[in-house]
Amino acid sequence: MTDTTSAPDRQPVSDWATDYDIFDPEYVRNPFAVWDDLRDRCPVAHTDRWGGSWLPTKYEDVTRIARDIERFPSGGGIAVIPPVGLDGASGTGPAPVAILPYGVPPISADPPLHTWTRRLILPWMSPQKTASYEPMTRALCDKLIDGFIASGQADVAADYAQQIPVRVIAHILGVPPELSDTFTGWVRDVLEFAYDPERRRRGVMGVVGFFQNALADRRMNPSDDLISELLHTEVDGAPIEESVIIGMCSLLLIAGVDTTWSAIGSSLWHLASHPDDRRRLVERPELMDTAVEEFLRAYSPVTMARRLLEDVEYEGCPMKAGERVLMNFPGANRDPEVFENADQVIIDRQLNRHVAFGAGIHRCAGSNLARMELRVAIETFIARIPEFELIDPSSVTWAGGQVRGPREARVRF
Ligand code: HEM
Repeated sequence: MTDTTSAPDRQPVSDWATDYDIFDPEYVRNPFAVWDDLRDRCPVAHTDRWGGSWLPTKYEDVTRIARDIERFPSGGGIAVIPPVGLDGASGTGPAPVAILPYGVPPISADPPLHTWTRRLILPWMSPQKTASYEPMTRALCDKLIDGFIASGQADVAADYAQQIPVRVIAHILGVPPELSDTFTGWVRDVLEFAYDPERRRRGVMGVVGFFQNALADRRMNPSDDLISELLHTEVDGAPIEESVIIGMCSLLLIAGVDTTWSAIGSSLWHLASHPDDRRRLVERPELMDTAVEEFLRAYSPVTMARRLLEDVEYEGCPMKAGERVLMNFPGANRDPEVFENADQVIIDRQLNRHVAFGAGIHRCAGSNLARMELRVAIETFIARIPEFELIDPSSVTWAGGQVRGPREARVRF
């Protein structure tokens, strides 16, 4: 396997406890062995790379830090590496920070901004709302399969997984589905190619510019979508500032696309490479709910960060202001102290208190939606294509960093 995320000028890692590199190709491909090693000898690792960061690998540390919003606030920054190209120092044109002074709430905010922005988003992601998006998600999955089923092969990452969440979120935000590929490009620029100033800037400016125009349009032509509702909502007797609405919409697009597509891709990659699990799931569809939770646990896609605003001493670790703490939810979910046979995928695992969606006040606001998309995408695929396998396991490519998942995974059936 090769990785698609190849940051420039990478020096080989000397010791994972003191010099880890989340963009190391081997780590992107298989981070699990590194976490197992670190949990035994240095559960909170450190690196000077990428501006300096700390990597907790145990469930207890990750969840304790996630819940400690006083010492580990989100307002200092949540990207796993410094957001290159966003300070106006590189690239051309205005700096996005000037356009989004409040960042992308609620994820980049602390209370009180966090509290009310989250409260406004949650009803759009409720179980009832989510159920109303299920028929269009199922129809979309079927249509994608119609497009490749006759050829006997497909890239389950690029032709299928990647195509689903962006169209569902476009539907919720009330933006035209034909812009989906453009959206996907911007999201990849923001998250997957975050180390490249020009790409990151292009992605952020693309998303922000799009929502600036969308807001202007909804002011003239109100509809019943989320953007229109936010434009007509008052908080403490005043309309919400436009930059906050743009930040919230940008977050939904960015948080809802790469994450879920990576989770769908990893699940199908697993089923393509583990025929016993695939046949069992085809024969026993009632295992789907536990299987979805197990895929989320074992292949958790999302790592967030907290950039420290002041020095913090955590379990003897001298964390400095300006450094990051990586919210290693994927590593926590492989902790053998919490999960029996943590490195095995057990599709009917009963006790599964995974933290793929985070923990504490920032716990994923879109988890109902993500679970529905994941279930429908897998269900639809294996119902129509019950037998499939990787054409060449060595040609599968993975993205890593903030979001981990396969980017090319060709199967035949
Ligand atoms: C499998 C798919 C997904 C995974 C694994 C995932 C994971 C996460 C994680 C780990 C966080 C916590 C961040 C932190 O602690 O800093 C988070 C927050 C969030 N996610 Fe998701 N997410 C997924 C899909 C979605 C979707 C589909 C949406 C909506 C379109 C969404 C919207 C959000 C929002 C709005 C937040 C911020 C919540 C807050 O700060 O209060 N996510 N997600």
